[in-house]
Amino acid sequence: MMCGLSDSEKTMKVYIETLGCQMNRLDSELVTGQLLGAGYEIVEDLDTADVFLINTCSVRQQAENKVYSRLGREAGSDRRRIVGVLGCMAQRRGSGLLKRYPFVDIICGPGQLHALGEMIRRAADGEQTVACDPDRKDGRAAFEGNSSIDSLDHDRDTAVGSPAQAYVRVMRGCDKFCTYCIVPFVRGPEISRSPDAIYEEVKQLANAGRSEITLLGQTVNSYRYSAGDRAVGFSDLLERLSGVPGVRRLRFVTSYPTDFGDDILHAMRDLPNVCRYIHCPPQSGSDRILKTMNRKYTRTQYDSFIDRAYEIMPDVTIAGDFIVGFPSEEEVDHEASADLIRRSRFKNSFIFKYSARAGTVGAKTLEDNVPFEVKRRRNRELLAVQAEVSLEHFQSFVGREVELLVEGPSPLADKPINVSDDPNRLQMLGRTSGDHITVFQGPVSLAGQYVTARITDATAFTLFAELVE
Ligand code: SAH
Ligand code: SF4
Ligand code: F3S
Repeated sequence: MMCGLSDSEKTMKVYIETLGCQMNRLDSELVTGQLLGAGYEIVEDLDTADVFLINTCSVRQQAENKVYSRLGREAGSDRRRIVGVLGCMAQRRGSGLLKRYPFVDIICGPGQLHALGEMIRRAADGEQTVACDPDRKDGRAAFEGNSSIDSLDHDRDTAVGSPAQAYVRVMRGCDKFCTYCIVPFVRGPEISRSPDAIYEEVKQLANAGRSEITLLGQTVNSYRYSAGDRAVGFSDLLERLSGVPGVRRLRFVTSYPTDFGDDILHAMRDLPNVCRYIHCPPQSGSDRILKTMNRKYTRTQYDSFIDRAYEIMPDVTIAGDFIVGFPSEEEVDHEASADLIRRSRFKNSFIFKYSARAGTVGAKTLEDNVPFEVKRRRNRELLAVQAEVSLEHFQSFVGREVELLVEGPSPLADKPINVSDDPNRLQMLGRTSGDHITVFQGPVSLAGQYVTARITDATAFTLFAELVE
């Protein structure tokens, strides 16, 4: 997808800022590869950039406010450069963004990113582009007919990104329509990619040394691909991908509770390179709230999923997400969420204050009636419960040996030991297969490699370790 730059454009410097979830991080990586291939230069410093791209998130108002503040700053700067708003907020707001920010040159939804190089070229000629997917109410066909839906992933430059880790999209969109959530509107209907295309991508990544592959989907375990009378489910996909030579760790996020069959749990238990890590958000521990959220399970069903997971894999690590202050949430519902955290023994939970999203059923039909102060308190309380549970979980590792994939020097500030000038004794950061952040002292040359380490200490967020020779 070269787009024939003129000489003056060949050295255009592009700065990309990424907000939001792993899907956006993957999209930004794919965009980076695409733009490098088309002759652009990617820079780390916004001040030097000729093109400012911001890959946006709409999941909570706070995420959108960040974009407004960046665009406000851009409006106030003397530097005139090409500005592109990409991703979920571009899809949600479309040309509406131009009313307040007329200087924006490109508005590009997540389904149109494959054409971004061309849009930048046009912007250099003074042309504005607004490119978004059709509105969801125009139906599935509008998306399924889009043959380019995978092209960004297809044309992937496997050398761009972290040396040992890579995200791979297995599905797009979401059909669950939880009443609070904007994702089904901005990412479109759920469409699973062909297993052959996924296999090929994983193979190429593994050949390039990317040995830890994380499969991505909004409800990744709902993956289902049908062609003729052949159907491939998520456990089949895991089995197939685990056989790709060079894949040492296979992970996946995020899971939806009711789509987590025993076949997947068994595949995780039996396939040695599939990490025993599950991120499966309950969102609430209260049946009444779950129902209002349109989560399609009860508390009892969630509990029994957790029980099955621990029964099949006693050493599995589980993480969750919660929303506090959902419309009509009472103390008793909040208590039920706290109880769910204790019962599920989560490694960690992400806890969010409810944010009404325009266009969702929640925003249309439910009054956002939990005061902000109460949301804040409930958020703090759930974090405190989770911290107790996390501490116990992390401390159970002390004395054990674990395998770490080393990511690089540790940016952790709480126990800074990067005081040495000796590159052989830096504080390095790695992750266990269960996604525990682990720090140890070692040479910087270990980045991207697997090491064995003995855990010596633990906080609620971090393991501390010594290398085992
Ligand atoms: N697909 C994933 C989650 C996507 S959004 C899943 O289904 O689990 C990531 C998290 O943001 C959600 O798990 C939820 O906890 C939170 N979230 C989504 N919409 C929200 C909203 N309107 N207000 C607050 N938190 C929200
Ligand atoms: Fe949003 Fe629910 Fe879909 Fe997750 S499953 S992306 S929370 S609608
Ligand atoms: Fe945000 Fe879009 Fe991800 S709304 S959470 S960046 S799918």
